[in-house]
Amino acid sequence: MAADALTLARPDDWHLHLRDGEALSRTVRDAARVFGRAIVMPNLVPPVTTAADALAYRKRVLEARPSGSSFEPLMTLYLTERTAPDEIRRARDTGHVKAVKLYPAGATTNSDAGVRDLGRVDDALDAMADAGMPLLVHGEVTDHDVDIFDREEAFIEGRLRPLLARHPTLRVVFEHVTTRAAVAFVRSQPARVAATITAHHLLLNRNDMLVGGVRPHRYCLPVLKREEDRRALLEAATSGDARFFLGSDSAPHARDRKECASGCAGVYTGHAALELYAEAFDQAGALDRLEGFASHFGADFYGLPRAQARVTLRRAERPVPTELPFAGEALVPFRAGETVAWRVESA
Ligand code: DOR
Ligand code: ZN
Repeated sequence: MAADALTLARPDDWHLHLRDGEALSRTVRDAARVFGRAIVMPNLVPPVTTAADALAYRKRVLEARPSGSSFEPLMTLYLTERTAPDEIRRARDTGHVKAVKLYPAGATTNSDAGVRDLGRVDDALDAMADAGMPLLVHGEVTDHDVDIFDREEAFIEGRLRPLLARHPTLRVVFEHVTTRAAVAFVRSQPARVAATITAHHLLLNRNDMLVGGVRPHRYCLPVLKREEDRRALLEAATSGDARFFLGSDSAPHARDRKECASGCAGVYTGHAALELYAEAFDQAGALDRLEGFASHFGADFYGLPRAQARVTLRRAERPVPTELPFAGEALVPFRAGETVAWRVESA
């Protein structure tokens, strides 16, 4: 019989969208409830492209923390074809910018300023390799003739392998991997290549989005894949392999932006992220592997200390509201109107 309680070092979220402005009170509170640190995505409008932007954004995030919270936002820069090597060094020197995010232009939400031609960012990538700053990759090609379900796999051979060959010391996180192929690729690489895995990709396959009616709140990018892919992700996450760690990719969009003719990509798991991961690990009979995945391996990869504080998960059904207040609008969270099976006790 699996345990009904689990105490682990306070986890971190290595891939999170906090948004900006009024949205921060929701997203930062939800993250700070459980996570000690989070890698904060830079795809704001306009994007966070300079060290100065990142510091200003960090300040806004810190101001949105609940009183007494020691939640630590770890900032990122948004890579463009104009990112100068000097900007990378300035970002590193702030001490608060921990990584740089690559969005192929057109791949996802607010990626228009992203990279069209990877050949044009080699100088910036060299500066990152020198600075020891990891590149966080949204790994999908955007070619019109590549099927959306094949875009991650096409990125591996077509873009990622050549990029890694051109930059043999650059550290890379293949973000939110969604396919068996991506898991196999990461496993085939040396320790400088790691991957994050979301809770929703561990819990859902594309049938859960498309069978019996389209469910826009389960639409995200990279899009949910086949059951065999979900199983490969679950196997990787629960394997104890330190190259796979927690990155929720919790990405809120107001209800109206999801339930419309051209709905935005993004799933909001921020209200229950750790609990959802616990469900997935429990399904796999691997709760004992959750701490490595959620609390140790990401910190180790980023060269940051493991957390000293601890949190306790207790098996207890918790209802999820049908919607949450979000910057004057409504946000439909993952499992809206249903339950999650765990509760975080001491955070
Ligand atoms: O589903 C997603 N939502 N995937 C991304 O890559 C971006 C994110 C967002 O910012 O909404
Ligand atoms: Zn993301």
